[in-house]
Amino acid sequence: MKQDPKNRYPSVSRISDAQRVRVVKEIFATVTGKYDFLNHVLSAGQDIHWRRFAARRMNFEHTFRYLDVAAGTGDLGIATALSHPGIHVVGLDFVREMLDTAQKKIRRRNLSTRIGLLQGDALHLPFPDGGFDAAGIAFGIRNIPDKQSAFREMLRVVVPGGQVLILEMTFPQHPFIKRLYAPYLTRLLPALARAFSPNPDAYRYLADSILDFPPPPRFARSMEQAGMVDVRRHPLTLGITHLFVGHKPGPD
Ligand SMILES: C[S@@+](CC[C@H](N)C(=O)[O-])C[C@H]1O[C@@H](n2cnc3c(N)ncnc32)[C@H](O)[C@@H]1O
Repeated sequence: MKQDPKNRYPSVSRISDAQRVRVVKEIFATVTGKYDFLNHVLSAGQDIHWRRFAARRMNFEHTFRYLDVAAGTGDLGIATALSHPGIHVVGLDFVREMLDTAQKKIRRRNLSTRIGLLQGDALHLPFPDGGFDAAGIAFGIRNIPDKQSAFREMLRVVVPGGQVLILEMTFPQHPFIKRLYAPYLTRLLPALARAFSPNPDAYRYLADSILDFPPPPRFARSMEQAGMVDVRRHPLTLGITHLFVGHKPGPD
């Protein structure tokens, strides 16, 4: 494995899946304190709008339960609980430090009776089949090398006809936006991270992982390959983020 001596994380295209999972765990355990602040600064507040957009697209008709995979500091779970007052949310993440921050935010908003948190792996969801109306993941799938297994697990735990929602940063397809966005990702974002983050190399990894992410049409096809039907793509903010919504076949 070749490594840039100036950067503690190697390029995502050059590491094994197991190494990548270790890098992801280390990154999220070290950026936790500044994670929300930097998310809002680096996206100019758009991340709040993106999560609300995803929450509003969810339907609850059977179990009235939502599973937030790779829940991190809890923002999508909180946005969903606020958009749908009758439901219960379960947030799952494998990094304890992120869940501890989520717990404090949930308490501050008086949502402790409606949002539960669990430490666990997206590839082995500790839930029976069909226990949720919807399962979602925001800015997490990029960090999971085995995406097909993650899709299959999310499909397994939703009811027939249930939704799988994936919110992720994508590289814009429009040539003009592309030209503006590439220097933002590779220069401005690491510079801002150097100024504010306890682990600036983590944001180099972020840029790298966005550049490595498949184009949205190919990503949507990979959701279908995992067994999802009626997969829709919603480009957000000039295509720098997409919401992908797929469905579990059924109920008929
Ligand atoms: C960029 S953060 C996103 C957090 C949150 N969903 C949000 O919207 O801000 C990615 C999260 O994915 C988690 N993660 C990555 N791979 C995971 C896996 N296999 N199982 C559980 N959590 C995982 C990380 O620990 C991290 O908290």
